Amino acid sequence: MTHKIILDTDPGIDDAMAIFFAFQHPEIDVLGLTTVFGNVPVTMAARNAVTLCDIAGQDIPVTQGVGMPWVGPESTYAHFVHGDDGFGNTFPKASEKPLDPRSSAQFIIDMARQYPGEITLVAIGPLGNLALALRLEPDLPKLVKGVSIMGGAAFVPGNVTPVAEANIWNDAHAAAIVFAADWKLTMFGLDVTLQTPFSPTFMDKLADKNSTLGGFVKDASQFYMDFYSQNRDDKVCFFHDAFPLAHLIHPELFTVTEGQVRVGTGELDRGQTVVAPAGTTASPLWTEAQTINVATKVEHDKLEQLFIDAYAL
Ligand code: RIB
Ligand code: CA
Repeated sequence: MTHKIILDTDPGIDDAMAIFFAFQHPEIDVLGLTTVFGNVPVTMAARNAVTLCDIAGQDIPVTQGVGMPWVGPESTYAHFVHGDDGFGNTFPKASEKPLDPRSSAQFIIDMARQYPGEITLVAIGPLGNLALALRLEPDLPKLVKGVSIMGGAAFVPGNVTPVAEANIWNDAHAAAIVFAADWKLTMFGLDVTLQTPFSPTFMDKLADKNSTLGGFVKDASQFYMDFYSQNRDDKVCFFHDAFPLAHLIHPELFTVTEGQVRVGTGELDRGQTVVAPAGTTASPLWTEAQTINVATKVEHDKLEQLFIDAYAL
């Protein structure tokens, strides 16, 4: 079975690893990359996405999307995690290919109308493009197959604040819109992505199997790994963004639980994804909220092998 997807992304090093996995896997058909601010400014995210397509020999639409959060000031970005260039300061030669002239939101709407019920939106950055697409096309939930996001922290602490994960924190109001929509949404948050650290040996395997794509990920991940390995005895990093894609192919590797979700948009709870499993609250703030699926566990070794096998193709 082939999965038609649109990847909404803020590349970003773990985004790059995920994008290459999607390009490599024969059961994933990437209709386009829609970019958003987050790890880097949206202009850099868009240029980085086109560069990744060039490196992988993919000629697909890449669009530029929202560069600001729904509410509040411009982001300060995550160059301290992903480097000044978004690729661990490896500064690959930037592609000069033109972007698709449409906004990311418009591209999402156009594709959903062209392939009604067939597309999974896979969002691995802040959610402003999906929120804007919902506002422009209120029927979007009926037009897509489902939504998978890397973001949130349902039952574990956040990575930007004690309660908030970066993608949700970066655009909490947009996330609130997306989580409140009536579509089939599965959340791959820190609950599952931080359970599975990846070692330098994993990067070596990717590079051995695929010198171009794996070599890029290995080189770009050195800076990223240094960030994640501070205050640790071992060298690790976390490829958060590949999880929703792995689930498309092998959902049986994941443990998923249902819950009703609300997103915090205040000063203290900005970006907090508060998930109430069924029957755990009588508060209408949650009992009247959308039910989503939350990934809570994954079989790490099989997940790692899935990535390695795809890069080896
Ligand atoms: O919190 C991790 C998420 O934020 C990942 O998507 C990473 O790329 C950053 O966007
Ligand atoms: Ca990302």
